Amino acid sequence: MKGLFTKKPLSKLILDSGDGVNNLKRTLGAGNLVALGVGAIIGAGLFVRTAAAAANNAGPSVTIGFIVAAIGCAFAGLCYAEFASMIPIAGSAYTYSYATMGELVAWIIGWDLVLEYAVGAATVGIAWSEYLNKLLEIFNLHIPEEWCHSPFETFKDAAGMSHHAYMNVPALFIIFMLTLLLIRGTKESAFVNGIIVITKVTIVVLFIIFGWSYIVPANHIPYIPAPTTYTDTQGVAHNYGGIWGILGAAGTVFFAFIGFDAVSTAAQEAKNPKKDMPIGILGSLVICTILYILFAHVLTGVASVNDFRTQGREASVTYAIKTYMTNYGWLANLVTVAILFGFSSVILVMLMGQSRVFYSMSRDGLVPKLFSDLHPKFQTPYKSNWIFLVLVGAFAAFVPGDIVGDMTSIGTLFAFILVCAGVWIMRVKNPEIPRQFKVPMVPLIPILGIVVCALMIAGLGWTNWLRLIAWLIIGLVIYFSYSRKNSKLNNE
Ligand code: ALA
Repeated sequence: MKGLFTKKPLSKLILDSGDGVNNLKRTLGAGNLVALGVGAIIGAGLFVRTAAAAANNAGPSVTIGFIVAAIGCAFAGLCYAEFASMIPIAGSAYTYSYATMGELVAWIIGWDLVLEYAVGAATVGIAWSEYLNKLLEIFNLHIPEEWCHSPFETFKDAAGMSHHAYMNVPALFIIFMLTLLLIRGTKESAFVNGIIVITKVTIVVLFIIFGWSYIVPANHIPYIPAPTTYTDTQGVAHNYGGIWGILGAAGTVFFAFIGFDAVSTAAQEAKNPKKDMPIGILGSLVICTILYILFAHVLTGVASVNDFRTQGREASVTYAIKTYMTNYGWLANLVTVAILFGFSSVILVMLMGQSRVFYSMSRDGLVPKLFSDLHPKFQTPYKSNWIFLVLVGAFAAFVPGDIVGDMTSIGTLFAFILVCAGVWIMRVKNPEIPRQFKVPMVPLIPILGIVVCALMIAGLGWTNWLRLIAWLIIGLVIYFSYSRKNSKLNNE
């Protein structure tokens, strides 16, 4: 058996990706890939976390928080783009680390990506469930609280008594429906995703255009509030205002950027991966950053911080429109519908990313073969989709949204750090390998990426560090008891 740090040779990686057996279909162009990215990016982060970050951390300067988070993502995005143009194979960060840092690190990152994709899909599923109730309110309908929350959450009945909920049925439902769609095929999923992306971007743009004239200048003064502490309704204290407020906001809205890297998981389905991967990754990141800053500027101008701290928090956009933008009631309802569709496309891309990472790991023998078995007709890894339906569904149905949300963020940041390190290592060890896209100023950019992501991890607090460590320990147990013995590379 070879060592823990055996690297998969690049030539072998490329060869494996085209062996004619169990191959994914190459159907996605640059436009599809940008849409895939935007589809994965705009979601609960923008529509839910913006108001939370304004209320708890930064007031109107949440826009600067978006810029800080975007800078961190841009450094990591550049590194992802170089890798994706060099190793255009399904599996994303997992595959890159296999070639650069060896099998153990590859396993760790593959396992860690479950947090980003599978647990991330559960997080957005839970947000979907909340907005479904907002939609039903329009028709005077309501899903009982105990059936749309985790059993670890309590809610108050009409008499003011606290009860534990049972499970989150709508979250489970949406994940089930999207799993079915995914099994049907990537091309079909990309088509549905395209329609959703157009709807979602249209709503964001409409809100920016119509809302602009409703901005009350006083709501933006002071733009960066003086540093103080704010204790939210749950009793949690936050640094509000000043530089720490902005950094806190960056950590909160980081969730809104997660997903651009999901584009890289579809490399094996791209028609021209070397050219189109960087366009897909960086293009979707740029589009979303611009939309986010404008959106946050309008939202914090239309409604005040006090609104976000009191009634207008969860459905902040709908609230701001209904309360302050007279004559735009129709837009509020449309926003709710678009948000539901928008969340669906985020879940779809995340579920797809997850099954593609395990597809690659399975072909390497690190997880069982059934994760790379393709459907005889649709050519999708359907068994993997079914298995992840159970895992993601369990998280969505039974774990509270804020816990899965933070687990997603910390897992993603950790993956970003390893990818930044990988690009640097690869430049030193294999400078000769052709790269269609090269990160400028190596090692400065990868180092800055590592530093900014590490700062955001630091900001997530020790409970989340412990969750990440526990998750990685479970992964190591599986690696040493199964994967190492079954690894194809190790047993050649
Ligand atoms: N960026 C995705 C969202 O905000 C995860 O929902």
